[in-house]
Amino acid sequence: MDGSLDATISIKLENAISLSSSTMAAAAEGAAAQALRNVLHRVTQAAQRSGRASHQVRVVAVSKTKPSSMIRDLYDASHRHFGENYVQELLDKVPELPDDIQWHFIGHLQSNKAKALVAGVPNLFMVEGVDNVKVANNLDKAIASLERPPLKVLVQVNTSGEESKYGVEPSECVDLAKHVKLQCPNLRFSGLMTIGMLDYTSRPENFRTLSECRSRVSKELEIPEDELELSMGMSGDFEQAIEMGSTNVRIGSTIFGPRDYSAKK
Ligand SMILES: Cc1ncc(COP(=O)(O)O)c(C=O)c1O
Repeated sequence: MDGSLDATISIKLENAISLSSSTMAAAAEGAAAQALRNVLHRVTQAAQRSGRASHQVRVVAVSKTKPSSMIRDLYDASHRHFGENYVQELLDKVPELPDDIQWHFIGHLQSNKAKALVAGVPNLFMVEGVDNVKVANNLDKAIASLERPPLKVLVQVNTSGEESKYGVEPSECVDLAKHVKLQCPNLRFSGLMTIGMLDYTSRPENFRTLSECRSRVSKELEIPEDELELSMGMSGDFEQAIEMGSTNVRIGSTIFGPRDYSAKK
């Protein structure tokens, strides 16, 4: 075989390989939009079973470890609420994506990253995971220094009873909520969030505990219950969470497929 034929064959092969990997990526992206449609349908049905309309339950597509191209695909399908829980990953994605995305920071936030999060995400919709006074204070100061409107925050509650570094005990939720409401004028206390068990599954007791926490907070802080969100329910249990009053479900793998953490190591 002469050299030029060899080169032609190798170029064709390379093109075929790159075409097939981009076709595969496009298929995965198409699959995410399809999976989202399916999730939205299930959310509507669960909301109806709980006597509510679908617009009363927000779906946050948890895009952590997933590329911006997949988020863009869901954005093009009209989805706007996305959740991330690594600050640096979110800061990298924000400039690559439209600025009307409503970003949720979900899970534990280290207090020393509050400023970077607020500064790097002008379209931060809500922080779901304030679990101590220091992180609340740092978020409050960051919002003040940037002269932004008040930031919505949810207090994270450990509803599993398991030993966990993150989330306040149910007995402490009123105190932290009170701190946010009364001492942090640049934050808007908007409700409660839970992850459930340490392995990220949930039991009905976890949802019940969060709902009871909301009743206590509502009474003590004199905020009507229906003005306080309950962020609970993930891929495996969002329908049950909605039936038990969730207003905000955070769904990752059912929409985007399994997460690949290898790049994080
Ligand atoms: C706080 C939080 N909520 C929701 C999710 C989404 O979980 P799932 O993939 O089970 O929907 C994650 C994923 O890591 C998470 O960290």
